[in-house]
Amino acid sequence: MNIPASTVCVEKDTHEINFSNIQGRQQVEHELQEVITKRDSLISEMCSHIIHSGGKRLRPLLVLLSGQSVGKMNKNLIKIATAAELIHTASLAHDDIIDQSDTRRNKPALNAVYGNDKAALTGDYLFAEAFNILALPQLTPIMRIMVNAIQEMCDGEINEGYDLFNWEVTETAYFKRIYQKTGVLIAACCEAGAIIGGGSEKQVEALRHYGINMGYAFQIIDDFLDFTGKQEKVGKPVGNDLCQGIITLPVIRFLQNKNNKAKVQEMMVETENSAIVFEHINHLLHHSGMLQNTFECAREYICMAKESLKCLPESPYKHLLLNLADQVIKRQN
Ligand code: IPE
Ligand code: IPE
Ligand code: MG
Ligand code: MG
Repeated sequence: MNIPASTVCVEKDTHEINFSNIQGRQQVEHELQEVITKRDSLISEMCSHIIHSGGKRLRPLLVLLSGQSVGKMNKNLIKIATAAELIHTASLAHDDIIDQSDTRRNKPALNAVYGNDKAALTGDYLFAEAFNILALPQLTPIMRIMVNAIQEMCDGEINEGYDLFNWEVTETAYFKRIYQKTGVLIAACCEAGAIIGGGSEKQVEALRHYGINMGYAFQIIDDFLDFTGKQEKVGKPVGNDLCQGIITLPVIRFLQNKNNKAKVQEMMVETENSAIVFEHINHLLHHSGMLQNTFECAREYICMAKESLKCLPESPYKHLLLNLADQVIKRQN
């Protein structure tokens, strides 16, 4: 897939920063390790399997950068960053059961190794651990933000399940779904970081908007990679969304063309083998320009994310947030 040249707001040659050196990241890893070693049982092995499987740690990074872009590093930022990664990890454990996915981060998914029941309970355990952290009295406002994010996420995943194979699904419904299942948690990380960093109301709001737009772009690229990515790079099965009936932006836009829709409906009637139908749609989609169009849509959200940070004071952390936005659009996993 040929990725288009950059526009004004997305830097073509942004050099990749090694975000692992960011202040606070090592402490977050340390806190995550504490969670794993708390128990001496299978649950500890399962937590270790998923926590050490090579996630990008985007959510803790957003907490740390947001906090430090408006204030100083403090131990509550580490706690929230850790809780955010636990919540995200729990949601992946549950998501892989829902999607019946056997690979995550290029490793066998938790459900594939230990079965659905134990994977579901490990997800619950990780959620509980996140609340163990957020139950600290000084973190109550953040707990509310995270509770809301988890509830939205559940609603979004349920809506996705409800709309499986709904070829009539609208763009509005798609954007609502991705906001719920991905955007709200990413926005919550930025907002929580900004609050605990001591940001002004305006700065907190700016970072929340940055997070919302990052969340849209992040999930749109995730959906784009499901059609264009290589499994070795993406680290999880590709080409699965459509086969499982998850109708994402490129397909929605492809079906907005009446001829395309008629072709698909015809294939559905004439071809009994659904795998062949999906292969056809995939082929047509790759020649429709809608994958490029989807990528452009993500790029627009990245531009809006960067725009949201205008009111923040100049600082290395603001620049890291801007750079991170560019990395989201270029990501291959
Ligand atoms: C995967 O999130 C789930 C989505 C919201 C698309 P990430 O791509 O951040 O997952 P890891 O933690 O890096 O594996
Ligand atoms: C997952 O969305 C979002 C969550 C709430 C975990 P996806 O189903 O697209 O995530 P992947 O592709 O499995 O990582
Ligand atoms: Mg999934
Ligand atoms: Mg996906």
